[in-house]
Amino acid sequence: MSPDSPPPPFRPPHPLALALIAALARRPGARVLEVGTGSGRNTRALLAAGFEVASLDAEGPVCAAALSSHALLHGTRAQWSALLARIARALEPGAPLYATFGSVNDARYAVGAEIEPRVYAPLEGDEIGVPHIFFTESELREALAAAWEIVAIEERVVDEIAGAWAHERAPLRDARHWFVIARTRAQ
Ligand SMILES: C[S@@+](CC[C@H](N)C(=O)[O-])C[C@H]1O[C@@H](n2cnc3c(N)ncnc32)[C@H](O)[C@@H]1O
Repeated sequence: MSPDSPPPPFRPPHPLALALIAALARRPGARVLEVGTGSGRNTRALLAAGFEVASLDAEGPVCAAALSSHALLHGTRAQWSALLARIARALEPGAPLYATFGSVNDARYAVGAEIEPRVYAPLEGDEIGVPHIFFTESELREALAAAWEIVAIEERVVDEIAGAWAHERAPLRDARHWFVIARTRAQ
């Protein structure tokens, strides 16, 4: 693309959205729960791939998979756990979750006011006062263990991948998130 070309109209889907679409190829038309839509880049990709997209209002275990990129970052530990439990309840037993979570290795870790261990609220910037929850790999594994079987977990630098619109005044530098694929445990 030449420097004079207009920018593309939409940001590309998140890598986990593309991975989920590939993994669900054998379930055409399946219902996918998306948490934290943002600009809708992942919603558009899911719909274009022929899936139905559901929100957390979904009643019962009706979704074949869940996707949440750069949205399960906020709240206290209790709020985060409650949200993860809602996601699990919306999924068929054994259904996959493709999601990102905050890492203690993120440059923003421990910046601002400590709300509780591993939870900090910035004192300035775009997300002032918003609690952010961070995990070591072992703590994330432990927090998910009761309801989820972890299939894959990997830490990635997400400066170019996370939602730039949420950080316009302070672009991300060395933001690191866990990329997780997990499955609900059959109850
Ligand atoms: C940084 S954006 C990421 C958007 C999109 N998933 C992406 O990767 O392009 C975070 C989004 O999650 C939403 N969000 C944050 N916490 C949420 C929660 N607890 N429940 C639902 N949405 C949430 C925000 O409103 C925002 O739309």
